Amino acid sequence: MIDTNTTSHGKWSSRFAYILAATGSAVGLGNIWKFPYITGENGGGAFVLVYLLCVLLIGIPIMMAETLLGRRSQKNPIEAMELLTKEANADSNWHYLGWMGVIAGLLILSYYSVIAGWSSAYILKAFSGSFIDADALAIKSIFNDFIASPVKLVFWHTLFMLATMWIVVKGINNGLEKAVQYLMPVLFVLMFLLVAYAMTTGDNYFKGLHFLFSPDFSKLTSNSVLTAMGHAFFTLSLGMGAIMVYGSYLSKDISISKTVFLIAGADTIVALLAGIAIFPIVFANNLHPNSGPGLIFETLPIAFGAMTGGWLMGILFFVMLAIAALTSSISLMEPAVAWLVENRGFSRQKACVWSGGVTWLLGLGTVFSFNVWENFKVFDRNIFQILDYLTANLMLPIGGFCIAIFTGWIMNAQHSEDELALPNSGYYQVWKMLISYVAPAAVFFVFLHVVGVL
Ligand code: TRP
Repeated sequence: MIDTNTTSHGKWSSRFAYILAATGSAVGLGNIWKFPYITGENGGGAFVLVYLLCVLLIGIPIMMAETLLGRRSQKNPIEAMELLTKEANADSNWHYLGWMGVIAGLLILSYYSVIAGWSSAYILKAFSGSFIDADALAIKSIFNDFIASPVKLVFWHTLFMLATMWIVVKGINNGLEKAVQYLMPVLFVLMFLLVAYAMTTGDNYFKGLHFLFSPDFSKLTSNSVLTAMGHAFFTLSLGMGAIMVYGSYLSKDISISKTVFLIAGADTIVALLAGIAIFPIVFANNLHPNSGPGLIFETLPIAFGAMTGGWLMGILFFVMLAIAALTSSISLMEPAVAWLVENRGFSRQKACVWSGGVTWLLGLGTVFSFNVWENFKVFDRNIFQILDYLTANLMLPIGGFCIAIFTGWIMNAQHSEDELALPNSGYYQVWKMLISYVAPAAVFFVFLHVVGVL
């Protein structure tokens, strides 16, 4: 057994608190902002199908693995991997996995905070009534004017980063748990109301559903498959230690499998609802599904401007989106902070200031890639796109691959079986097969395909 007596590590106050926080981490911009626009860019149905398969066959097993690694070690990801490799008598290089996670988290946070800043700015735009009766063209120019201003984007990015740092400083019990408790129910209700609005678009509603759910495999390139797989990791917060950290605050008597299914289920439902709400509006207004990261900002305000009660709903929606982003961003920062505090003797404040500061600076690259550095491209990608590709499509799947190999092949099977405590050994065998063979092989083949070997 691992000795955990010497840590100053926190604990969730209850199973419910943990579910809320982990769902808060999973549900965020990934579901409502990213899923619709990458679905639009990658041709719809076939992409969605691959994404769903990846969640089921790769995401859920890896989420269970990450949670159990965290809970067994009760440490931050870097120390967790050090301890677990010692326990398994394995090569000490595995702790680099923890490192990659910390770095991936901060890289993601750098652009996440910028987009979350957009959502925050849109609260004010909704409040000021700018969407009322505005047509698609007007809504589009509101968005274009906004992202053309580096000053505005920096302002909102700064504000969001400060909010993230503030909550992370407060530690798990005071900050994280409270924020999520009220958010999820309200978010669900709002998503359903938006879907109800989408239903009023007549034929376009069915066009939207058709786009999302009827697969046309000719639209699927190997890069779309990589994006779908990468997004399964991104949306479930996997591959960089966020769920490992959350698992490390989890007490031993809680069922990992049940909580993982709940979290993944809620996450998937929110993403699908977002898609069902957005695409009918896209088609009803002759917009293009592939308009990129601005998609939700160019579509949903049209709905808010047109529907009764839309003024209030618009405000509520962007407030919810900003809070959903906040409960995710804290989990992107937590691995770095936990490590600085537990390993480097930083105070929590100092650790937050450092990780937040560095990430904020990096975020400027994303801010400028929408305006002043718009034309600065490497491999045809601007800075935002490079960061997104590097993290979601490469680092997270690589991290997930290593986590799968470690839990499936290196860790003592008795240990993983004890931690998961599944109701019968048949379930354990299924998980073991997915984590040892299916998940790593899938990641491996998708990579081979993308580099053109297959
Ligand atoms: N899952 C979050 C979203 O969908 C983003 C996120 C939070 C994340 N923590 C993460 C992504 C850790 C990858 C790794 O918005």
